[in-house]
Amino acid sequence: RHKISIAIDGPAAAGKSTVAKIIAEHYAYIYIDTGAMYRALTYKAIQENIDLNNELEVANVLSSIKIELKPANDGQIVLINGEDVTDVIRTNQVTNQVSIVAMHPKVREEMLKRQRLLASNGGVVMDGRDIGTHVLPKAEVKIFLKASVEERALRRHQENIKKGFESDLTKLTNEIANRDKLDSEREIAPLKKASDAIEIDTTSMTIQDVVRTIENYIEERL
Ligand code: C5P
Repeated sequence: RHKISIAIDGPAAAGKSTVAKIIAEHYAYIYIDTGAMYRALTYKAIQENIDLNNELEVANVLSSIKIELKPANDGQIVLINGEDVTDVIRTNQVTNQVSIVAMHPKVREEMLKRQRLLASNGGVVMDGRDIGTHVLPKAEVKIFLKASVEERALRRHQENIKKGFESDLTKLTNEIANRDKLDSEREIAPLKKASDAIEIDTTSMTIQDVVRTIENYIEERL
């Protein structure tokens, strides 16, 4: 069977990466978490004490780093110039500032290049915000995953508790809503459903339900 490209977009904490990983594994495709790339850049820029609002300086940090996404047992590991940053790019500090970094046109331009290169051989499941609209406009399968902000915050909250992390549901809800707002209202490649994407509202669906729905859709297109 020929290898296609699968784009999965949607707001924060909608379950994109969970579902994308399962689907990639099923088809033996490469999974590319584009959010991790923006997070890696944000982490590095914070470390270097860069003003995140300064587009040129942030873009310069990006040109100085190699970001690698490598498959691992439970998903993928993220490396910056060879250093494992898988966990540190998920801190609140990074999460709550990544949307500022992701607004800059020069940053998005470079990310777009890198992401297209990673996907150039097909056989990829790529998740993010602008994959169906900008990065892979010709993807054979485009999915837009959404869920109510309350449900998304609740899922994150339960994940945090399970991991033994401190978690405040109200705060999480506000942070997620704020990130969605910044991602949806930015000038360049905002979070938006592609006109040819199928929209799945996962609010009252299990992960299994979502995966099954997407795989049925993929099967029609292989
Ligand atoms: O997917 P994740 O929540 O890890 O993404 C982190 C942030 O990276 C998003 O909130 C958004 O600001 C940015 N992002 C983006 N375009 C993508 C993927 C992520 O702007 N394709």
